[in-house]
Formats: sequence, structure tokens, C-alpha cells
Amino acid sequence: MESEIAGPAAAALASLNASQIAFIAGLPKAELHAHLNGSIPISELQKMAHEYFRTSNKSASDVVQIGITKLQEGVVLDEIYDFFDLFPAIYALTSSPANLRRATRAVLAQFLDGPTPQCAYLELRSTPRETPEMSKMEYVRAVLDEVEKYPQTRAALIVSLDRRMSAEVLHECVEIARTLKVKGRRVVGVDLCGDPQAGNMDTFSEHFAEAKRAGLGITLHIAETTSNSDAETLQLLSYAPDRLGHATFLNDEAKMIVRRKKTCVEICLSSNLLCKTVAKLDDHHIRYYLRQDHPIAICTDDTLPFRTSLLGEYALLLAPKPLGLGLSEGEVRRIADMGMAARFG
Ligand code: IMP
Ligand code: ZN
Repeated sequence: MESEIAGPAAAALASLNASQIAFIAGLPKAELHAHLNGSIPISELQKMAHEYFRTSNKSASDVVQIGITKLQEGVVLDEIYDFFDLFPAIYALTSSPANLRRATRAVLAQFLDGPTPQCAYLELRSTPRETPEMSKMEYVRAVLDEVEKYPQTRAALIVSLDRRMSAEVLHECVEIARTLKVKGRRVVGVDLCGDPQAGNMDTFSEHFAEAKRAGLGITLHIAETTSNSDAETLQLLSYAPDRLGHATFLNDEAKMIVRRKKTCVEICLSSNLLCKTVAKLDDHHIRYYLRQDHPIAICTDDTLPFRTSLLGEYALLLAPKPLGLGLSEGEVRRIADMGMAARFG
């Protein structure tokens, strides 16, 4: 299932010739940073919304109606915090086990199906969510059932921990990830995500330690905005993450740690541009990591609101400036290899 792309990734892709597109499409690529509920193809979400309105008496001011209209028209964000307002509408549609499975199938198909799939391997991530119809454990099991329909070499699941979670819920979620892994289910890691301004990171230490003891990979959204303090960033680095999401605003000390440990940075170009945490491609921190020959993985983050695809994100690497970074095919191939090398699975 292909979804329409728009914005910077689409412009970069449109600037490439057929042989360049064939080159990036043919590269074995790993998508390591894709949030399930942020990656549902809009066509699938529209179908779910249609059924939601057919079976309920919701008005046009309903949260789902407002959210779907925004997503259809193309989301324009003034700042990153506006982004999190989109999720209540999506969550209202994926709160039943049937719709959660359906959404998961559509996301997996979007990345993995077709004659030239977006990626060779997908590490999908999602936050265990309790709803009136399912427990957190049932949520994760439902997602895993769909993930495991693909071979082990193609898909795996990361359990996301939200920055707002209480110590009790964090414990519950890590325990879900751990016990499912012990049972041979395909959970390969845990993630820290959510509103970058929320939560107190002091409470997270023991939960990441527990995940590490269970043999789970650790990836953390870190230094995503200027309001994430240096102290918080250093604290998160002390949890010994295997990979980092964004890492946009690392100070020199943090950069030294990340470089010394060769911690892979998951780079989401369109996400950063549209959330306005990076003003333009030329200012993007990917340039720093490329200069240092530091491991990175190119990822989409949330294909739904950012209207991108993994092919589009790779187009941003290869397209000539200012539409892209103007890298050579050799450099792009090396980046794809680094992504594949950073898999947890
Ligand atoms: P879910 O975990 O499958 O429900 O995917 C949506 C969730 O991912 C959102 O509610 C956020 O918590 C998280 N998320 C998506 N994009 C970002 C991001 O760029 N930064 C932090 N959290 C994010
Ligand atoms: Zn993310």
C-alpha cells in the first residue's frame, strides 16, 4: 500500500531522475524509527473514520472529524507541541482490537509489501495503550500477531514508553516487553517517546536498566527541542542507550559521549523540518554526523502527518541542494548500510 507524499521529501523525489530513484529504491534499507499510530496510511484512517461516524452519532465538532480533516488537508505545525494534538483523533479510531490490527496491517504493508518495498526491514514501535476493549498486554499482543506474519528478517517490534508514564505503568510496560520476549515473541527493544516537555526522567532509570537486563535494545528520543535541558540529555545518556532518536540539540559533552560510544542516531529529516526543530536542511545535524562518519539511520518517524516515505527520506539525501543534501550514491549506500547495521532484531 503506497501513500501519497508531499512537502520536502516529495520535492526531493521529484528532482531525481529515473535511474537515481531506481538506485535508492533498490538499496536494502532499514526503517528503525516508525511510530505505529503516526504511520497509518491516510486512506485506511479515512475508512475507519467513515465507519466510526456510521456507527455513532458524532457531530462535526467531534475530535475525530477535526483530526481527520487536518490530516487530509496536510498538517501545518507552528511548533513541535502542536503535533501531539493530532493523536487523540487517531487513538479514537484505533482503540478496538480489530481496528488496531487493521491499522498495524496497513502500516506493515506500507513499508514491506509490493515489488519494491520501502524497506528491507522494519522495526515498528508503539506505546502499549489500555482502552475500554483491551489491556496493554492485549494491545502489544495484537500488534505482535501482525508483525510476526512477516519473517523475522523483515519485521520486529519496539515497545514505546511515554514520558508521561508513572513508575507503575513503566514497570508494567517493561514487564510486558520482557515476558513476551521470554516467550519468544518478537519484541526487540524499548523506546522513550512522547511530548518532549513532559515527564521527569529521574523515574526512568530503573526501568531502562530492567529492559537492558532482559536483553532488550534501548532507543531514546533525546534532545528533541531546545527546551530539553543538557542535564536531562546527560541523564538519558547515562542509561546506556543503543540508539538515539533525533539528538538534535546535543551539547559538546553529550556529542563526545555519543561519538565515543558510537551510538547510532536515528535521523528523521522531514519530521524535523515540519516540526520546525530544524530550520532548513542545510542546518540539519545530520551534517555533523556525516562529517564524523558516525553511525546514523534514516527514518520516517510518522509518515501520516509528515506525508513522507522512506524512499522520500532517502531522496532528501541524494537530491541536489537546496532540495536535498546533494550526497553521492556511494555516500547514500553507506548510510543505508549503517541503518541495516543498527537493527536490534
Ligand atoms: P504509538 O506509540 O503507536 O501510539 O504512536 C504515536 C505516539 O508516538 C505519539 O503519541 C507520541 O507519543 C509518539 N511520537 C510520535 N512521534 C514522536 C516524536 O517525534 N517525538 C516524540 N514522540 C513521538
Ligand atoms: Zn519519533
